Amino acid sequence: MKKDIPGKDWPKTLLSWFDRNGRELPWREDKPRNPYHVWISEIMLQQTRTEAVKPYFNSWMERFPTIHDLARAEESEVLHQWQGLGYYSRARNIHKAAREIEEKYGGTLPDRKEAVLSLPGIGNYTAGAILSMAYGKKEGAVDGNVLRVYARLYEVEEDILKSSGRKEIEKLVESTLPERAGDFNEALMDLGAEICIPRNPRCESCPLSSECRALLHGREKELPIRSAKKAPKEEQAACGVWIREGRVLLHKRPSKGMLASMWEFPMALASSAEEARQGLEKLLLGTAGDSMWHYRHVFTHRIWHMNAYQMKEARVPDGEYRWFTPEEYREIPLAGPHARLAAFVEKLVD
Ligand code: ADE
Repeated sequence: MKKDIPGKDWPKTLLSWFDRNGRELPWREDKPRNPYHVWISEIMLQQTRTEAVKPYFNSWMERFPTIHDLARAEESEVLHQWQGLGYYSRARNIHKAAREIEEKYGGTLPDRKEAVLSLPGIGNYTAGAILSMAYGKKEGAVDGNVLRVYARLYEVEEDILKSSGRKEIEKLVESTLPERAGDFNEALMDLGAEICIPRNPRCESCPLSSECRALLHGREKELPIRSAKKAPKEEQAACGVWIREGRVLLHKRPSKGMLASMWEFPMALASSAEEARQGLEKLLLGTAGDSMWHYRHVFTHRIWHMNAYQMKEARVPDGEYRWFTPEEYREIPLAGPHARLAAFVEKLVD
């Protein structure tokens, strides 16, 4: 009789591989798992590489050891602790959720799916991760790694970036989840991160190679199907560096929208570098010299080509502008790439 591929026992094979090869990571250290640690690590890991998350996770837990400490902190402290991880709405949502958990659930993350899902910033993926890893519930946590592994294992033809593809895989996950769902979810993530990688999967080291339909049909590099993404919007950003008596002029961004409430160097955006420079001169009513710093910052749907200009004979515009010494601006949340410029500017301030 022809063997079914994948067979029904592959989750067991994957779990025993994970027991021997699972990665040692700071948020996996507690036994039993601490729901707060699972939550924060999962949010940090959403847009950031594991290696980059490790130091942030450790210093976060030193600064806010419990949900109670987090709920009591000011938003600016929370943003400052997040600085460099990007996508700051994640930090704002964590803070709001901590306050809600403190008020409604006495400082402990709830273990009911609807309650977890109703918290700011927690969607299906994070809820599944928390419930399975911290509370031992039989829930899936479908992220990009899991989509890729299942698309190959079951030779899924649907586009995984479309809801039809995701739904098909979510059904497969539900029908294959074993009792140890938390370990299973992390095993899939480790397999996806180390073996079933996007470009050149390491099938020769894969514990599931004899179960993989894509490999059987030589399609492991072709799958998963992903529709082409829209090209990111490219913008030129002119930043003004104005130093006066050991202080630098910074601007607080509006409380809504991209990089909300974070501090930045006075900045003008345009489609060409020259237009952006002129926009900056208009903003500060001053003269911008030659560019002294350049940096290309990539957001998810946007790229900033940044130039910094030392400003002469400028004027402080209306709005939220303030002067800071480098010691002072190290303590405030700086908008992503502006933190890099701030490090450069430190050398210019005496
Ligand atoms: N990526 C997302 N969640 C993860 C986890 N719990 N362990 C490792 N990588 C992850």
